[in-house]
Amino acid sequence: MTSDETRVEVRTAAAYEVVIGHGLADRLPALVGDARRVAVIHPETLAETAEACRKTLVAHGYEPHTIQVPDAEKAKAADVAAFCWSVLGASGFTRSDVVVGLGGGSTTDLAGFVAATWLRGVRLVQVPTTLLGMVDAAVGGKTGINTAQGKNLVGAFHEPAGVLCDLGALQTLPRGEVVSGLAEVVKCGFVADPGILDLVESDPTGATDPGSDVLRELVVRAVRVKAAVVAVDLRENRSDAAGGGVGRQALNYGHTFGHAVERVERYEFRHGAAVAIGMRYVAELARLAGQLDRATADRHREVLQLVGLPTTYRAGLWEPLHDAMRVDKKTRGDALRFVVLESLARPMILTSPEPALLTAAYAEILG
Ligand code: GLY
Repeated sequence: MTSDETRVEVRTAAAYEVVIGHGLADRLPALVGDARRVAVIHPETLAETAEACRKTLVAHGYEPHTIQVPDAEKAKAADVAAFCWSVLGASGFTRSDVVVGLGGGSTTDLAGFVAATWLRGVRLVQVPTTLLGMVDAAVGGKTGINTAQGKNLVGAFHEPAGVLCDLGALQTLPRGEVVSGLAEVVKCGFVADPGILDLVESDPTGATDPGSDVLRELVVRAVRVKAAVVAVDLRENRSDAAGGGVGRQALNYGHTFGHAVERVERYEFRHGAAVAIGMRYVAELARLAGQLDRATADRHREVLQLVGLPTTYRAGLWEPLHDAMRVDKKTRGDALRFVVLESLARPMILTSPEPALLTAAYAEILG
């Protein structure tokens, strides 16, 4: 174990570890385990890293196959999954072989889906290379692809056997990508670990610096939040009515309005930016509904601004936003539901808020 390595255990039925540190390539063979063939699914931008993985795997006696897929969201398509299946078929991939997802959240979502579906499920190792991938997409077993009707409509829960977060990968990320990933980190701060907010407030420059100890600590804390949440509610079954908190839905904080912004912006907006606006919206909604105090609502704007995330949105778009939120209600009936805070780290579900409250919260965030 290298000195700066942190391990976070995800205690679901088949527990696994998320390893956070530097230079973790030599950890891959141990996670691959007894397999013979290993498919490393990666985007073109990570061809060199995939080649390094291939060499490491060969050196350990495996038969690796690198599968290059389109960058970013374009990877999450049925024809790309079909291409991956065809490579697995051609290489004689069996149930005891392993898929590795190397890349950002889109690549790990696709790789997870391919691993979930090939022979009804093979072992999966996730190697996220973006902040968003490390703190959200690659941990927790949600996998999926998009269809013409919307994002993540086809997918499966398929947990990895392990996740390797090599912080060195963040060094080459565009700053905008780091900032976007921080939205999910800040989300973890508001719904579960306010220490995250204190860290960002005390060193906002460090929070956006991929080489800093602060960002490292933020990654570890966000992964701990995610691990704790999925350990009690892997399949997002829990609701207020069932008692004992909102479970995995807490991780959707800011996402109902955020997804609507993404849809209205035709997915040309970064996910983190949309989620930041979404968190600001639900903070104002909760305040106007009498659930949340003004200081905590204001803290959303302050923390998000400190790291350069947007906290306002354009006027005149209420109807398309509202329509998009109605479509994105996650198959739970007709009511609009929002994850809101009743106080820091205490999420709850607000169901069917009055239309006047919804539009008043929108008015509060106009830029
Ligand atoms: N990204 C939300 C979740 O993993 O549940």
